[in-house]
Amino acid sequence: MFITFEGIDGSGKTTQIKLLQDYIKSLGNQTVIIREPGGTPFSEIIRDILLNKDIEINPVSELLLFEAARANLTQQVIIPALKNGFYVLCDRFYDSTTAYQGYGRQLNLDEVLNCHKLATLGLKPDLTFYLKLSLDESLKRSAHKKADRMERAGREFFLRVLDGYDAIAESEPERFVIIDAAGDIEETHRKIVSFITRKSPNK
Ligand code: TMP
Repeated sequence: MFITFEGIDGSGKTTQIKLLQDYIKSLGNQTVIIREPGGTPFSEIIRDILLNKDIEINPVSELLLFEAARANLTQQVIIPALKNGFYVLCDRFYDSTTAYQGYGRQLNLDEVLNCHKLATLGLKPDLTFYLKLSLDESLKRSAHKKADRMERAGREFFLRVLDGYDAIAESEPERFVIIDAAGDIEETHRKIVSFITRKSPNK
């Protein structure tokens, strides 16, 4: 089963992915956690380029770099792990590109969606948890951190990213589940588990 997590900075994705991994392991299943961009030596190098605040990258180059990192990760890690029966838990996947490059950078959406198909060989997550948080709460939670290149984009950019996530949720309600990220950690975890149990082939 392929499960992805989405959300803006500070939404608690990392905490929830770890809690979910512990739960899945406790049932005797094998899991792997990966993050995007990243997860292979090639994709981690691209991550460093994309997040480097001293490098200027135009929106099309940015899109293609995220997709290049994704193509490598999908073919080298995700598809083989799924074939071997692992639960693959991914911190971001192509919905991030739709939200950030499609809506945030305002690139042509059809072209962005075609890039996803090329990069993923058509692979889709079985379930995506969108940990939804307001922009003000996100900024408050990450105020102590040094901003990377992506985080330096302005307020208008992030408001468009949030609109993008809402649009995805509306178009794919079965796969793309909205979870209130402002809620209690344990309660959020229980909600996530209940969705997994409903979808799991081994329930
Ligand atoms: P992270 O901070 O959650 O690890 O993600 C890295 C940053 O890259 C984050 O600001 C979101 C951004 N991003 C995109 O803009 N497009 C993408 O396709 C992905 C995967 C991440």
